[in-house]
Amino acid sequence: MANIILPSAWRIAEREATSESVYVTRRACLGLLGLGGLALTGILPGCSMPVSEEEFAKEPRNWEFSGADRTVYPAKRNPAFPLDRPLTAEHIAAQYNNFYEFSEAKDDVWRRVARYKPRPWQIEVKGLVRKPMQIDVDDLLRTMPIEERLYRLRCVEAWAMAVPWTGFPFKALLDRVEPLSTARYVRFTSFHKPSVAMGQRGYGPWPYTEGLTMAEAMNELTLLVTGIYGHPLPKQHGAPLRLVTPWKYGFKSIKSITRIEFVHEPPATFWNTLVPHEYGFQANVNPAVPHPRWSQRTERMIGTNERHPTLFLNGYKRWVGHLYT
Ligand code: MTE
Repeated sequence: MANIILPSAWRIAEREATSESVYVTRRACLGLLGLGGLALTGILPGCSMPVSEEEFAKEPRNWEFSGADRTVYPAKRNPAFPLDRPLTAEHIAAQYNNFYEFSEAKDDVWRRVARYKPRPWQIEVKGLVRKPMQIDVDDLLRTMPIEERLYRLRCVEAWAMAVPWTGFPFKALLDRVEPLSTARYVRFTSFHKPSVAMGQRGYGPWPYTEGLTMAEAMNELTLLVTGIYGHPLPKQHGAPLRLVTPWKYGFKSIKSITRIEFVHEPPATFWNTLVPHEYGFQANVNPAVPHPRWSQRTERMIGTNERHPTLFLNGYKRWVGHLYT
């Protein structure tokens, strides 16, 4: 990591993690997870307050023009995943995004995705499987058991949200491609298009990659997501297809997936490659294990700024606790 110069702004995550206010200064907008290299590329965006619900409703909704198949939304809600807090307002979640391909400023991503086209979109599933496939995302969706689930999402930066995702269990895809017994991990790869994703012109092991063990991938909670708030995913949330693993820090929930590979060795991942001493492969939510630069004991809900104690495995111990005994 010798090439990464860490500007002072890089340290701001600590402030984000301990304050209850929404930071609106330019400094506070800089790369919270620590992708300080982008700050050297001269693409630092401005920073602004989120627009109100009324104003946001007047903005073009990018998922409406994406060509996504809307017939599957809203999907039937699966009641097995109750929430302990109110849902985050849609316009708040849509304007507070980590999507480093487009911007380091969370409040700017939704405006920076204009030239990104999530359709047509092919998904490749390959590696140690009996039935590899390449399929259009909407064709895949039409053959999968779609449902809505209310999940908390906990970012490693100590903010959180609660949202209704629409998608299908990863397990349903596994059953279709039939992994070989030699498959021990799953590697996910996002898109690579620096011509539309400005962030990819800066430092980073692009494209964004993530990984899970097979046991994690097969867990009931692991969801491949195509929609949110009862409609197709907006671009800033990772259209057309993203992963959601709610017991892990949000950076594991890779957006805009193009490739899913079944492999034998633990795959390299974006953050673990970039800042290995801060972002591990497992990345389970754990209040007792502080980030090297801030505490993880509490979390701030975006929108309301309410603070909650962080829950072990983000409250999903019942589903995944047995994986880590
Ligand atoms: N996926 C890609 N491809 N690029 C990213 O920068 N950021 C991650 C994750 N998935 C990221 C990504 C992080 S750090 C978080 S917290 C969540 O997406 C945020 O998801 P949201 O913007 O839908 O809330």
